[in-house]
Amino acid sequence: MTIIKNNGYQLPEGSVYQPATTTNGAISGSQTSGKGKVQDRERHSVMSSNETNSDRKSDQKLRPQHLKEYIGQSHLKMMLTMSISAALERKEPIDHVLLYGPPGLGKTTLAQVIASEMGAKIHMTSGPSLERPRDIVGLVHQLEAGDVLFIDEIHRLNKVAEELLYPAIEDFMIDLTSGKGHATRTMRLPLPKFTLIGATTKAGSISKALRDRFGFSCRLDFYNEEELAKIVERTGGILGLTIEQTAVVQIASRSRGTPRIANRLVRLVRDFAQYKGKKEIDREIAVEALQSYQVDQSGLDSTDRKLLHVVINNYDGGPVGLDTIAATIGEDSETIEDVYEPFLIQAGFLQRTPRGRIATALAYQHLGKNPPANQLSLDFGRSENQSNSFEDNDEKP
Ligand code: ADE
Repeated sequence: MTIIKNNGYQLPEGSVYQPATTTNGAISGSQTSGKGKVQDRERHSVMSSNETNSDRKSDQKLRPQHLKEYIGQSHLKMMLTMSISAALERKEPIDHVLLYGPPGLGKTTLAQVIASEMGAKIHMTSGPSLERPRDIVGLVHQLEAGDVLFIDEIHRLNKVAEELLYPAIEDFMIDLTSGKGHATRTMRLPLPKFTLIGATTKAGSISKALRDRFGFSCRLDFYNEEELAKIVERTGGILGLTIEQTAVVQIASRSRGTPRIANRLVRLVRDFAQYKGKKEIDREIAVEALQSYQVDQSGLDSTDRKLLHVVINNYDGGPVGLDTIAATIGEDSETIEDVYEPFLIQAGFLQRTPRGRIATALAYQHLGKNPPANQLSLDFGRSENQSNSFEDNDEKP
């Protein structure tokens, strides 16, 4: 059941809206529009790292409940394990946590895991939902001692909301204002001690004042193929699928370092196998399914390839400005920057320089082209003989 409260913040599937109950680990959703700018400009591709409705429905049953089930982000898990156990021993909530990193890496999942490990109730909302002072006041008013308040897209909090939050997170106090002009009166009320978990894809857009109020700032990194393979196996198990190891590897290696995409690919491959009347998912059926969705061996889809094509063919490999790329491929700049580029950059296909974007030698090789000599020296990605051209050779064994 997806619950939409107020302006439509969509709680993850299976969440319960519990304004004032004390069920441990339960999720209380209070607010409003969780749709971020990027989500509004939904990438129409199976490879989008943004959350779709089907992800939301399916992911809740796939989400790990405890740190020991949570795969990857080992450094972060170690730090959280220590802090949670120390806080539990002191019978105090843990310090406020800021989780940042590209979409789909498990920030919401981790927030739920933290709440669950603390035996705390979690209230979920998002920055854009908290438009008016009374949204914040209403929200913190529901909090009980030890609760977790999760604010997704915290970089999109407006100034007024942010300033109201400062005393709430620093001193567990809220300033209530009444009256207007000369008659304005402010009353400071105490709040129970709670933990704020903020999540953002844009750590750089958060004011220093807000950032400094978090006890922990944790960056989530892209997952490696081994970690993604474990996630694919785990998801396959929960969905009751039989997936051969070779198929697991195919799905994992095309998941762009992102669990949300890995889980989505598992569902797509499952549907494809079912449609083809296959009970077991082997390498052949997985590859056939992934090819039918135009996902190549590196996890690039048709839009990623189009973007690289444009930089290479129209602009001699760059440097070319973001706005120019956007106009050429018919996307808006912010979508390219937030949704497409992070993986292309991290996988070594694209470089972001002050003069614009540059296609690397790896990008040339991926599209079956010879890189110019100057690009070869720039490429810090894979070596030439590890290239996997999508155009020349769609699949290699
Ligand atoms: N599902 C999504 N992210 C996960 C993770 N990090 N570990 C286990 N399952 C997941």
